[in-house]
Amino acid sequence: MGSITFLNLIGMKNKELTRRTFLRKTSFGAAGLTLASNNFSRLFANIQQDSNKLALLGGNPVRPKGSVLGIKWPVIEKRDLEMYIQAFRDKNWSEYSNRKEEFGTQFNEEYAKFMGVNYCAVTNAGTQALEAAQRAFDIGPGDEVITQTNTFVATPQSTFNLFALPILVDTDPETFMINPDLIEERITRNTKAIIPVHIGGAVANMDKILAIAKKHNLAVIEDCCQAHSAEWRNKKVGSIGDLGCFSFQQFKSLPAGEGGAVIGNDEYLVARVGAYVNNGRDPRGKGRIFPGANLRPTSFQSANMLSQLKRQDEQNEHRDKNVTYLEQLLSGIKGIKPTRKYDGQTRRAYYAYQMVYEKEYFSGLSKAKFMEALQAEGIPVNNGIDSNLHKDPFIDAYLNLDSFKRIYSKERLDKYKKELQCPVNEHLQAEIGISLYQAVFLGPKRDMEDIVTAIAKIQKNASKLL
Ligand SMILES: Cc1ncc(COP(=O)(O)O)c(C=O)c1O
Repeated sequence: MGSITFLNLIGMKNKELTRRTFLRKTSFGAAGLTLASNNFSRLFANIQQDSNKLALLGGNPVRPKGSVLGIKWPVIEKRDLEMYIQAFRDKNWSEYSNRKEEFGTQFNEEYAKFMGVNYCAVTNAGTQALEAAQRAFDIGPGDEVITQTNTFVATPQSTFNLFALPILVDTDPETFMINPDLIEERITRNTKAIIPVHIGGAVANMDKILAIAKKHNLAVIEDCCQAHSAEWRNKKVGSIGDLGCFSFQQFKSLPAGEGGAVIGNDEYLVARVGAYVNNGRDPRGKGRIFPGANLRPTSFQSANMLSQLKRQDEQNEHRDKNVTYLEQLLSGIKGIKPTRKYDGQTRRAYYAYQMVYEKEYFSGLSKAKFMEALQAEGIPVNNGIDSNLHKDPFIDAYLNLDSFKRIYSKERLDKYKKELQCPVNEHLQAEIGISLYQAVFLGPKRDMEDIVTAIAKIQKNASKLL
């Protein structure tokens, strides 16, 4: 065989393996994931066939053009359609009365049970879930909320929309989560809350964050919009802090087009959220005793959420198995590894499964070129860092508003801008972070082999792309 060997795949160094020795030596017995001989044959064939010419240079891609790695998202089955049609036929499209028959009320009950909390308040989006959760703590003009630069823009937008200031903290270089050691220095007398984001589906260091919050008497609102069913010390995220916010936007692991929820164990807090999303109507039936807006989902959204919820466990297990297998295969390749996880993370989710790319093992090939080459092989790799929000023009869009200039002194706003420094995140974004989307892990096991085959092929030929 050519110079590409399975040594790369299984981490052995000094001699090329024949097919037989490879079979003998690749038993992943501990997890019951022995690489079966038919799997091996395919992997063997793939690498042989594909190792010569990179797709980027005109060779055959590892995955045939147009083939979907994993599955096409979202999943729709008969039950989803039936529930959707039922919502339509019921002619109760606007749900605001908190009656048991409403799809939204049923979802609140089911989701709270599924998440292991007492209460849930459904919303029309994750962005609105975050806004309503901050409202529950009366966060408003003059307040500050600590969050991170590596998140979707909705997280800090939801704070800005309340005329408060989101403080963007830099990233832990090994986990890609908020760096908990940089939080305390950003706390001022105006700080009201911390919003850690379980970005990509991995879990932020909740032990450290809860300890800081306790010491400074701050609320903790978890942004779990990318982390459905991830766990911290065997408890689902969203139930660790005071409130947890979720998105059910189409790409999320529980998709409903648009939709969201806030969960928690404190009846008063979740009632405030439920009231805020429903024009102030207290879900406990105590009238309009809280501030409100209309952030309600339609019955169609809630019916879809209820139906999609039923396949969560099965899909989570499917992803877990594939990622375990992928990690076993990857453990033999130098230069691509999963991000480090904190000890307390007992389960991760996979909205964006983040990995670390080390170009020194790929002849110095830049991350951008590596991603291009992998995409050409049919592996839809993404950026492992969601964003560098500290450099994003959306900040000036808020700070330049007359309303912000009325609330905050020029000195305060200048200081705010001066402190927008997150060099670690910039480095990770440019050089290191890569990720794969959750639906990639819902296909056959063989798809994991294709990912590794493509990486090994690029590694072997990296110098040709320089
Ligand atoms: C981390 C994070 N927070 C908040 C949101 C906002 O959710 P939605 O799109 O449902 O408003 C998203 C959506 O992508 C997200 O990824």
